[in-house]
Amino acid sequence: MKTALVTGAARGIGLATTKEFLSKGWHVVMVDRDEEALTSEASQLQDVTEILCDVSVPGQVADIAKKFDHLNALVNNAGVADFGPIEETDLSRWRTVMETNLDGVFMMTQALTPALAAAKGAIVNIASISGLRASTLRVAYGTSKAGVMALTQQQAVELGEKGIRANCVCPGPVRTKLAMAVHTQDIIDAYHDAIPLNRYGSEDEIANVITFLCSEEASFVTGQIISVDGGFEATGIGLPALRT
Ligand SMILES: NC(=O)c1ccc[n+]([C@@H]2O[C@H](COP(=O)([O-])OP(=O)(O)OC[C@H]3O[C@@H](n4cnc5c(N)ncnc54)[C@H](O)[C@@H]3O)[C@@H](O)[C@H]2O)c1
Repeated sequence: MKTALVTGAARGIGLATTKEFLSKGWHVVMVDRDEEALTSEASQLQDVTEILCDVSVPGQVADIAKKFDHLNALVNNAGVADFGPIEETDLSRWRTVMETNLDGVFMMTQALTPALAAAKGAIVNIASISGLRASTLRVAYGTSKAGVMALTQQQAVELGEKGIRANCVCPGPVRTKLAMAVHTQDIIDAYHDAIPLNRYGSEDEIANVITFLCSEEASFVTGQIISVDGGFEATGIGLPALRT
């Protein structure tokens, strides 16, 4: 049986990804720092192992690495969002975003590289459309996600020699706890306007692409940054007002 490790698996996109792997017959190691949510969700699933871990804490990441010598897929999905003006983003807010969104992806991948190499496994890092285009209020979040894209390409190029693939998924807006905490009704309406498919995505629509990239069907795909965004990235400067 193949094993995937998914970070931020206790809810949202990570939980949907866990369930998608399970439906394909994989074993899933669910990693999260929210003990209550993790225990509650994991207890309702079969073929999962739960590990309480904060991916931004080096010692906790090192402990995880000791548990695996063979891993088929690593999904670095755990992330935090904090939207604010540049002048109000003090170093501690900046660091809080960076330590999970960027340091966590770097550390988890580094720690699990021997296990991934042993299985010729796949890495999928979750960035965001906010890393593809600049916007207001996303100085930390958007920069962290742009970093995740660059990190993915570094991983793909260097770890390819070990048979490890690394790809990046950039979700458009999905109605998870993370998004709803920072999306006002105005933002929701504006996203609908800017997205050709005219709606938010679902957790499952993101999970489908993540699990595809971890599968044998994607065996020659590496170093790619794939938006799952209803066409948001394709619109360039397309103005909603010019649509028919
Ligand atoms: N929801 C969206 O609209 C959207 C859009 C683009 C990108 N994303 C990205 O998708 C990923 C998942 O987001 P979501 O919307 O499902 O969020 P969510 O808040 O619903 O779930 C995130 C999970 O990650 C866990 N987590 C956060 N920091 C952690 C840490 N340091 N260590 C371990 N676990 C940690 C949380 O406890 C939570 O269970 C994130 O990387 C996010 O930036 C989300």
